[in-house]
Amino acid sequence: METLLITGGAGFIGSNFVNYMFQKYPQYHFIVLDALTYAGNPDNFSSLVKNDKRFEFWYGDVKNAEIVNALVERANYVIHFAAETHVARSIFDNKIFYETDVIGTQTICNAILKNYKKIRKFIHISTSEVYGTALQAPMTEQHPLNPCSPYASAKAGADRLVYSYWRTYDIPAIIIRPFNNYGSHQHLEKLIPRFITSAILNAPLTIHGDGQASRDWIYVLDHCRALEAVLQSEKNDLFGQAINIATGIDISVNTIAEKILERLNKPKKLIQHTFNRPGQVERHIGSNQLAQSLLNWQPETAFDTGLEQTINWYVNNQRWWEPLLWMRQIPIKVKEGKIVMH
Ligand SMILES: NC(=O)c1ccc[n+]([C@@H]2O[C@H](COP(=O)([O-])OP(=O)(O)OC[C@H]3O[C@@H](n4cnc5c(N)ncnc54)[C@H](O)[C@@H]3O)[C@@H](O)[C@H]2O)c1
Repeated sequence: METLLITGGAGFIGSNFVNYMFQKYPQYHFIVLDALTYAGNPDNFSSLVKNDKRFEFWYGDVKNAEIVNALVERANYVIHFAAETHVARSIFDNKIFYETDVIGTQTICNAILKNYKKIRKFIHISTSEVYGTALQAPMTEQHPLNPCSPYASAKAGADRLVYSYWRTYDIPAIIIRPFNNYGSHQHLEKLIPRFITSAILNAPLTIHGDGQASRDWIYVLDHCRALEAVLQSEKNDLFGQAINIATGIDISVNTIAEKILERLNKPKKLIQHTFNRPGQVERHIGSNQLAQSLLNWQPETAFDTGLEQTINWYVNNQRWWEPLLWMRQIPIKVKEGKIVMH
């Protein structure tokens, strides 16, 4: 039996990945390492996963070399999701972003290096945020790295750190740069769950700036399928690559708010505009040509279908998200000196 070590597996994407892979691959043993920060929730694992001996949960920090070494030693594949992930929170208090996202990644890389012969693949989950605003459309992996927020810069540091370990030590690293994910089990601090839950509660949908900012929205299960393709691939030319996971379509924040209100039958007057967030990225639209050619992967879920499934999940799982309501927004000082909730 082969063993996957998944860091940050109790968060949004990590838990979707574990739940998806677990039922599809009975030959894999799953180890999750997660510090259960405000963003992690062990209830995110399906009961099928939680009640099976093929699944092990380890509570611990990715910066703790001792626990990381002990778990990496047992793994054949490492998928590294663990990170602080909220852009607005990184503007509010950024130290922990550099600690977890950069030093945590270095700790993982050192453990991979120690266990070089045993690890087949190390998949590092980076982000499209490393690029900053699109200078050309769509953005390829060659787009300059112009991170616009402390979160993005910490992730850019981690992304290039992994690359440097591949160049220097030849660790079997593959860097994945997903664009904006959405789907079930996403924290309410993120845009789509915040809008959906606000609409359900008849509360305002607050849009920062004019709402023209756009993102490339990828359904979380399409992202999981891309990671599955990386794991299954026998190609050696994946190592050292940075690969976008994108749809090639961008959709504005205004459009998303309108679609959610329409689907939930709520009035447009719930939309409210406020100060733009500092470090805002204006446009993200990714090229998935490299993922298509290297992984034979492309997204399968149209945005309206994925959004419908996501809305249904939040409508049916109020008990999951109600305790998170108070964390939907965070105070940030904008240039004008005002404190604004973001
Ligand atoms: N959500 C997106 O749209 C998106 C897009 C691109 C890339 N990413 C990247 O994907 C990864 C997962 O994102 P997500 O949205 O699932 O994040 P999330 O915030 O939902 O989950 C992060 C998980 O990491 C855990 N964690 C945090 N600090 C840790 C530490 N020191 N040690 C161990 N575990 C720790 C948390 O407890 C949580 O379970 C991150 O690396 C993120 O940068 C996310």
